[in-house]
Amino acid sequence: MGGKNATETLLADQAGIARAVEVLRDGGLVAVPTETVYGLAARADSDAAVARIYAAKGRPSFNPLIVHVRDEAQARDYAEFVADADLVSDIMWPGPLTLVLPRRPDAGLAAAVTAELDTVALRCPDHPVMRALLAQCDFPLAAPSANRSGFISPTTAEHVVASLGGRIDLVLDAGPCRAGVESTIMAIREDGRWEELRAGPVDLQALHDHYYDDTGKPRPVAAGRGNIEAPGQLASHYAPGKPVRLNAEKVAPDEFFIGFGAIEGQCNLSASGDLADAAARLYACLYQGAHSDRPRIAVAPIPDRGLGRAINDRLRRAAAPVETQSGS
Ligand code: TXA
Ligand code: MG
Repeated sequence: MGGKNATETLLADQAGIARAVEVLRDGGLVAVPTETVYGLAARADSDAAVARIYAAKGRPSFNPLIVHVRDEAQARDYAEFVADADLVSDIMWPGPLTLVLPRRPDAGLAAAVTAELDTVALRCPDHPVMRALLAQCDFPLAAPSANRSGFISPTTAEHVVASLGGRIDLVLDAGPCRAGVESTIMAIREDGRWEELRAGPVDLQALHDHYYDDTGKPRPVAAGRGNIEAPGQLASHYAPGKPVRLNAEKVAPDEFFIGFGAIEGQCNLSASGDLADAAARLYACLYQGAHSDRPRIAVAPIPDRGLGRAINDRLRRAAAPVETQSGS
């Protein structure tokens, strides 16, 4: 499987999902829609299948993968549910929150999935296609975003094929993804600390305040230490392959302009200034900019609150010099 030009695209209906289960069981690679971005799934209990993910993406081997599960019960096969893990997963799953927890010694995951860390990243996605797939697979699925390492994450099946066509076996097409930016990643440490490793659709500080407001001792959510532990946090990432200028009020003649709110552009993230709409359109606009005939991209200012934090995080990495590129 997976020879050059062998990528098949199927509608994500029952037959398509059944075919995906077969391909995955045999160790193949399938791009699957989730509510955030398209993921590149392979069975997480197979060294060979997981090695194929790293090869297809050109992903550095030190950058671990998220294991996708159908429910908390399955997640408990792989991780210790320390401190608040139980509470948080009860409220937030299924949904765009990835939990990094201590890995169980008997997790049975391929070593490359966790890149030698003693933690594991777990996510229970909220998309009917991914959920149907997980329900029919009697093995765990590892799934990074379905793009070549370091480049823009795909929010449509067409973007997956443009990035990984010929390198993977199958793409399940269910149209554009709803949220548009990758899950929030949160580590829960054994001493109970919460750490945000990647900003995303779930607002951790709001969630934390909701539970700890009345203790009188609010514990702020710590920013993750980043680099080695979560390479998705490294400087260049989500790169469109040309220079990106941020917080632009006006466009230069050689720029493709991505607007927001009243600031118009060739592409507008949200004319009404809605951050959820903007997140959903972010990668499509960057993709359009990448494929336009203008040599540069400029992006209007985005407010740095709520989902705007996740958008600005991705934009900063899209704008960072490519020499420092690393990650997923
Ligand atoms: O929304 C999402 O999370 C998407 C969809 C497909 O589920 N997936 C995704 O995967 O964004 P990926 O591989 O592109 O990003 C996963 C991030 C990486 O930055 C990786 O370093 C981090 O998760 N990660 C994985 N395991 C980790 C661990 N044990 N500790 C810390 N970070 C970890
Ligand atoms: Mg990625």
